[in-house]
Amino acid sequence: MDILAELERRRAAARAGGGAARVAAQHARGKLTARERIELLLDEGSFEEFDMFVTHRATEFGMDRDRPAGDGVVTGWGTVNGRLVYVFSQDFTVFGGSLSETHAQKICKIMDMAMRNGAPVIGMNDSGGARIQEGVASLAGYAEVFQRNVLASGVIPQISLVMGPCAGGAVYSPAMTDFILMVKETSYMFVTGPEVVRTVTNEVVTAEELGGALTHTRRSSVADAAFENDVEAIAEARRLIDFLPLSNRSGVPERPFFDDPGRLEPSLDTLIPESTNTPYDMKELILKVADEGDFFEIQAEFARNIVTGFIRIEGRTVGVVANQPMVLAGCLDIDASRKAARFVRFCDAFEIPILTLVDVPGFLPGTAQEYGGIIKHGAKLLFAYGEATVPKVTVITRKAYGGAYDVMASKHLRGDVNYAWPTAEIAVMGAKGAVEILYRAERGDGDALAARTRDYEARFANPFVAAERGFIDEVIQPRSTRRRVARALAMLRGKRLENPWKKHDNIPL
Ligand code: HXC
Repeated sequence: MDILAELERRRAAARAGGGAARVAAQHARGKLTARERIELLLDEGSFEEFDMFVTHRATEFGMDRDRPAGDGVVTGWGTVNGRLVYVFSQDFTVFGGSLSETHAQKICKIMDMAMRNGAPVIGMNDSGGARIQEGVASLAGYAEVFQRNVLASGVIPQISLVMGPCAGGAVYSPAMTDFILMVKETSYMFVTGPEVVRTVTNEVVTAEELGGALTHTRRSSVADAAFENDVEAIAEARRLIDFLPLSNRSGVPERPFFDDPGRLEPSLDTLIPESTNTPYDMKELILKVADEGDFFEIQAEFARNIVTGFIRIEGRTVGVVANQPMVLAGCLDIDASRKAARFVRFCDAFEIPILTLVDVPGFLPGTAQEYGGIIKHGAKLLFAYGEATVPKVTVITRKAYGGAYDVMASKHLRGDVNYAWPTAEIAVMGAKGAVEILYRAERGDGDALAARTRDYEARFANPFVAAERGFIDEVIQPRSTRRRVARALAMLRGKRLENPWKKHDNIPL
């Protein structure tokens, strides 16, 4: 027998997955196959496949007569713009991409390699869940993956692209990864599906409503971004990977840049409106500070009162957290605090410096917030900033009021360089509220109160009171923000700071 012919025959069989009819069905749904997805994700010709000939070992339910090579998942490694990544891609055409014992072992193998060799794991999920014929062996396989997700967290970046069904306990592997990207209409994630929901709670929902990409990017915040189709999701995953360090020890990637770090932006001098209550778009500042205006936003559709994402400055990745005055006046609420806290912790875990842009009138008042636990959730963001040891550069553009001033990477939470624009107002609260409390007796007297308000504004609605105490290092011209931030980050490159030894902290979860 010609062994080379045998090799080719076996390879072809593995590449064919579940066969032409099932591949056609996958395409008819607007989904790519597991291998097509890998081809788009990785640099051309860079994919090295592992375990192509692995088959399951189940014998019951006639499974011994059906042993497709690869067992429903394609695994291996390759590069994204030249940088190493490990990848697994579930093949829905083989037993619905369901996870067997051996399927799980394939995933675990590349996760173990990724941990040893310090590179991200990119998972593409498209699966009917636990391989029903295998019972508890499949559940064990999931748990083996879960355990690795936990141990890898904070060591290597883990990204999930959910590109088909992902239901039941299977959702918990993506849930423990750093970022989840979903595809609209063709992917969904839920712990219990529409039928169980209808039986238990009498609610009638579709799979898309219950766990589709829009649900998870707008309502639940389980997912970080939603895309129109597989091609767009994978292209954006490549963009995201370009921003991320390979591991917690590698440092941020450095890319050639073609944007002068000293670039001045005179238009920023008029970004802040005349009236202190008029909103403006904080994203304009982010884009003007970033190299080439390139910004990868995380959770763009959720808690839009705070903006999180990655930019580069001098070719090096920087995490940005920014209050957004366009939404809820930029208040911190439960959702914004949770969103930003998780982002800050990701950046800190992977040594990504954090740029914080502040225009915050305070925490959002109301029973919904208090009953929902804003105390605990707001504390998450405070905690995340306070424990972060990466370089922290803060720019206050306008309001920095009350507790929210402290939270937003203030000097007191070990902010390294704290700048303010001349329009900054750093105070316990806004002038109107302050005067109403301080001069309650004069309440009926409009003129007197107006005078008091002007007086308060003159004294506190500026950056100088804070600057006099050294809480603000320098008051900078808006136009020079990019230059000042770039220089600050360059100065902080050698920063070394360690927190006290502990097993782990007890962040208010
Ligand atoms: C084995 C499975 C499978 C599974 C699908 N298939 N799910 N095989 N185990 N879990 C097979 C089907 O038999 C079929 O085989 C092929 O995959 C495609 O499935 P279809 O049903 O034809 O596809 P579709 O109509 O698109 O429906 C997809 C689906 C549905 C919604 C995912 O297949 C489904 O409901 N599957 C069962 C889901 C489930 O209950 N899983 C276990 C849940 S428990 P052929 O040969 O006909 O192509 C779980 C928890 C994990 O997952 C726990 C972790 C802790």
